[in-house]
Amino acid sequence: MNLALSEEHLLIQKAARDFAQNELKPGVIDRDSNSLYPEKGVKRMAELGFLGMTVSQKYGGGGMDTLSYSIAVEEISKVDNSCSVILSAHNSLACWGIEKYGDDYQKEKYLKKLANGQTIGAFCLSEPESGSDATQQKTSAEDKGDYYILNGTKNWITNGKKAGIYVVIAQTNSEKGHKGINAFIVDANSEGLSSGIKEDKLGIRSSDTSSVMFQDVIVPKKNRLGPDGFGFKYAMKTLEGGRIGIASQALGITEGAYELSLNYSKQRQTFGKPISQHQAIAFKLADMATDIEAAKLLIRKSAFEKDNQKPYGLSSSMAKLFASEIAMKHTVEAVQIHGGYGFVKEYHVERLMRDAKITQIYEGTSEIQKIIISRNILK
Ligand code: CAA
Repeated sequence: MNLALSEEHLLIQKAARDFAQNELKPGVIDRDSNSLYPEKGVKRMAELGFLGMTVSQKYGGGGMDTLSYSIAVEEISKVDNSCSVILSAHNSLACWGIEKYGDDYQKEKYLKKLANGQTIGAFCLSEPESGSDATQQKTSAEDKGDYYILNGTKNWITNGKKAGIYVVIAQTNSEKGHKGINAFIVDANSEGLSSGIKEDKLGIRSSDTSSVMFQDVIVPKKNRLGPDGFGFKYAMKTLEGGRIGIASQALGITEGAYELSLNYSKQRQTFGKPISQHQAIAFKLADMATDIEAAKLLIRKSAFEKDNQKPYGLSSSMAKLFASEIAMKHTVEAVQIHGGYGFVKEYHVERLMRDAKITQIYEGTSEIQKIIISRNILK
């Protein structure tokens, strides 16, 4: 078994690391404090080929594998989690499903626009009353023959205001339950589509999260993804891959906090020696380093399975669960290691701690991951 990264993966890692450290780090505190959308960072992610990196070259993407994507998300997440969630949602929640389940028309018309990153994608599943229990879709898609009429509200949508293309999950036939749900590609310019105010959040504060409203939005039938009634499965399959992205984000957050803590603890002196020489701190660092390795192995296993056409729903849930739990735990410890300095913005760890929280919530809470894992092992 060879766990070393290939030359190609190392190059992607370096490119993402350099970009994050040199271009995202300056200004990250200000963007976080003032909830400023990382306009320049997103533009650069497009130029550098990160947006659409997993889309095949045939449609203008980077044709890269899941491991490359995971590494890019991880590196960017050490620094700026608003950028990494934009990258993650765009690649895995918007592009992936269109490429996997879309037809030629949909790929030509929509995927190509997403692949070069000039158009940002969003995935609209959650609703005010449907988060974890995703079958309970209230957004309706009334079948009118050649087209559908969409009505409803979606909540917590990453890229909600900035997206040019939305993948929207809606109920066409409520009597059929989840088998009456469909997925649609909806153009942001569609009449009747609007977005709510940008949410004022605890973490990932500069990313664009908002509600998206649909009022009598006409969606051509040819924009439905997959056969009639496939929408719920479409959403579940999409989330399986999305969770590799969020796990990678959580890993990057933990590594970012660990690296800062390691450096700080070697410099900061108490009781006549660097605090890293006190077991109270050294043991925290040891736990962090061990958990980081474990999360990395889980994530890379899942990415490997996805890239090799093996089932990856179980491994991606395990990776997401583990990585997000350790991210929360260790970012709290990172603040503790930094003492009073950890409590102020300048030292970055308090932001990573706030960012960590969302990884336990979006794309399925930790409890949802445990439902998926336990169902898999008990079936
Ligand atoms: N792949 C394919 N099919 C699947 C599937 C999967 N991974 N998971 C479920 N299904 C199918 C089942 O086989 C079943 O189909 P049949 O009836 O034909 O057998 C159907 O879907 C219903 O499945 P369940 O009975 O298992 O459904 P459930 O109601 O018990 O819920 C759940 C399953 C796993 C809890 C699901 O609701 C879930 O994942 N919830 C969390 C939703 C979520 O992650 N939301 C996040 C929003 S997106 C976001 O956060 C993005 C962002 O901005 C970053």
